[in-house]
Amino acid sequence: MNRAISYSETIVAREHLDFGLDSTVPKCWYDSHVYKSRYMDALQLSFPDGERYFITSVRAFRDKIVDPALLVAVRDFIRQEGQHGMAHTRYNELLKLQGQPVDALQAWFKAILDERTRRYSAEYNIALTASAEHFTAMLADALFSKVSTTQGMDPRIRNLLAWHAIEEMEHKSVAFDVMCKVAGVGYWLRIGAMLMSIKHILVISYTLTDRMLAADGYSYWRRRWLHGRNLLWVHGPRKGLFGALMPKLLSYFKPGFHPNDLPVIHNYRDWLTAYESSGDPALACEALLAAAHR
Ligand SMILES: [Fe+2]
Ligand SMILES: [Fe+2]
Repeated sequence: MNRAISYSETIVAREHLDFGLDSTVPKCWYDSHVYKSRYMDALQLSFPDGERYFITSVRAFRDKIVDPALLVAVRDFIRQEGQHGMAHTRYNELLKLQGQPVDALQAWFKAILDERTRRYSAEYNIALTASAEHFTAMLADALFSKVSTTQGMDPRIRNLLAWHAIEEMEHKSVAFDVMCKVAGVGYWLRIGAMLMSIKHILVISYTLTDRMLAADGYSYWRRRWLHGRNLLWVHGPRKGLFGALMPKLLSYFKPGFHPNDLPVIHNYRDWLTAYESSGDPALACEALLAAAHR
């Protein structure tokens, strides 16, 4: 692949933002719905270690990068992911106050990531990172392209997720470009890594959700019932959180695919303009949602 490196969106690390997260954020912050809240909490719980893993995977190739545009993009990618990790760590501290075994769950997840780093080549790790970054960019689109998905969210967490989503859009090509242009990863390794990422995302998201619900006091069978009842909310083919992403997920399997083949979220500029004029991620999120599809 000899596509020239260029980034249609500037990768900007917006640092030390205050989302007003404190212990008044309710446990059922998403639509007053325990399963939706805990499922999203499970994803958030994995972000700080996940993002450190992404940074490690990209850094492994930094000394081999000669393209100045890619070097700058990698620097800004690392800064953005570092900020995301810090913001979600603050949120995870609130989960501890709710009695969630955050340290134990993160230790379980980190052991999986450490095992990957130890066992697999740097090339396979950057391929796993690129596939996970495809997921984070898709999730950003799934959450904020239409207004209905975030209805009923606590606005503080919604603003945090919107900021994270926007920055995931900005750097969605960086790990992919390092994988293809620097690590020399070919089609089959890229696809193998995506298949492994799909399996891991399913196993990790359900395991963490299940263990959080157990900590909330739900019995084994009650948890099975909750997983079953909310299966379509996660995987429904048209309206499911991940189910609706299927066409974008399948595009990753095309030979010659590049993340820039998929446009950024249609209301990206609305968030950006509002943020640049106000410096306030809450106002920027409002602008993002005002421009979202009904
Ligand atoms: Fe991130
Ligand atoms: Fe990312």
